[in-house]
Amino acid sequence: MSDNNEVQARKVLQEMTPYSPGKPIWEVQREWGLKEVIKLASNENPLGPSPKAIEAITQALPELHRYPDADASKLKQVIAEAYEVEAKQLIVTNGGDELITLVSEAFLDASDEVVVPDPSFSEYRFGALLMGAVVKNVPLKSDFSYDVEAILAAVTNRTKLVYLCSPNNPTGTILTKAELEYILDALPKRVLVVLDAAYSHYTTSTEYTNGVEFVRKGYPILVIQTFSKIFGLAGIRVGFGIAPEGIIQSIVQVKEPFNVNTLAQVAAMAAIGDHEHVNQSSQLVKAERLRLYDSLRLLGLGYTESMSNFILVELGLEAKSIYERLMTKGVIVRYGQIWGLPQHVRVSVGLPADNDRFIKALQEII
Ligand SMILES: Cc1ncc(COP(=O)(O)O)c(C=O)c1O
Repeated sequence: MSDNNEVQARKVLQEMTPYSPGKPIWEVQREWGLKEVIKLASNENPLGPSPKAIEAITQALPELHRYPDADASKLKQVIAEAYEVEAKQLIVTNGGDELITLVSEAFLDASDEVVVPDPSFSEYRFGALLMGAVVKNVPLKSDFSYDVEAILAAVTNRTKLVYLCSPNNPTGTILTKAELEYILDALPKRVLVVLDAAYSHYTTSTEYTNGVEFVRKGYPILVIQTFSKIFGLAGIRVGFGIAPEGIIQSIVQVKEPFNVNTLAQVAAMAAIGDHEHVNQSSQLVKAERLRLYDSLRLLGLGYTESMSNFILVELGLEAKSIYERLMTKGVIVRYGQIWGLPQHVRVSVGLPADNDRFIKALQEII
């Protein structure tokens, strides 16, 4: 039966492309009749969640008839200690994604402007468009490093937010501490810099900053962090933001009271204290990243050196067909078209055997 109504959604929805999460394992298994499929497409932690988080979730189950702590106060205390900030400089959210939406809701009026690096994480644009704001894309340089002067040049008296993603998804490149400081000092104090440091734990560069030191210094900056990557908790949805107290208060005003469920809160608390799991996870990525570079080089393929748990690989004009053929061999990666990079794919760093399988499949195809 066809719908019988004339209900109109907001006009802005017509301009908004929904987030494309990439194909799930089960779909590729069904489509190609494959048993063994590996997903190297969502930058998840291949080691799984911290065992301590699983234990904490199990222990919290009998209390599920209670509402969660609306303020996530225990978790905030643990995060505050780990990041050497005050609890009132923190907000805990349903993943980093929710924080991006909340920031958009808290700070953007229609026709305000938002500066967004390009290519980068799609949710910045989504949040801005949702509020009727105007997105000013600033291309990265040809080597995918940040073009600091171009970012500053894009700022007008309507600019409310400047997004910076470091390490940047999908390129793996970083904004250096010196560059961030330069930007913060050059910008008017009414502009909020949102530094998305979702992948900060995978960096090895001494020039990197996760931005928290600038929060401590009182700059108008919000740092986004997530439990979905190094902490291996993507499925339970927890992220957090670190910013000066006044900025946090504005964001808290628009959040729904029980945005982070009880299991997510206890899991995150356990995961942040599981240093062994965090260390293993970062060591794995750092070692495998290098091994993947070697293999890609042997195959004669270009790639961008990454400070993250994924690598942007240049496959040339055949990229789309290689991406599709990888899928028929049970290897899911992300095709670059969504970022306007039709000659690239982004591959998440997996377990050694998964990375070997990716390289072997790639070798067979090309
Ligand atoms: C750059 C970046 N920021 C934020 C997120 C959001 O992560 P989550 O909502 O799972 O916390 C992601 C997820 O892929 C990301 O790549």
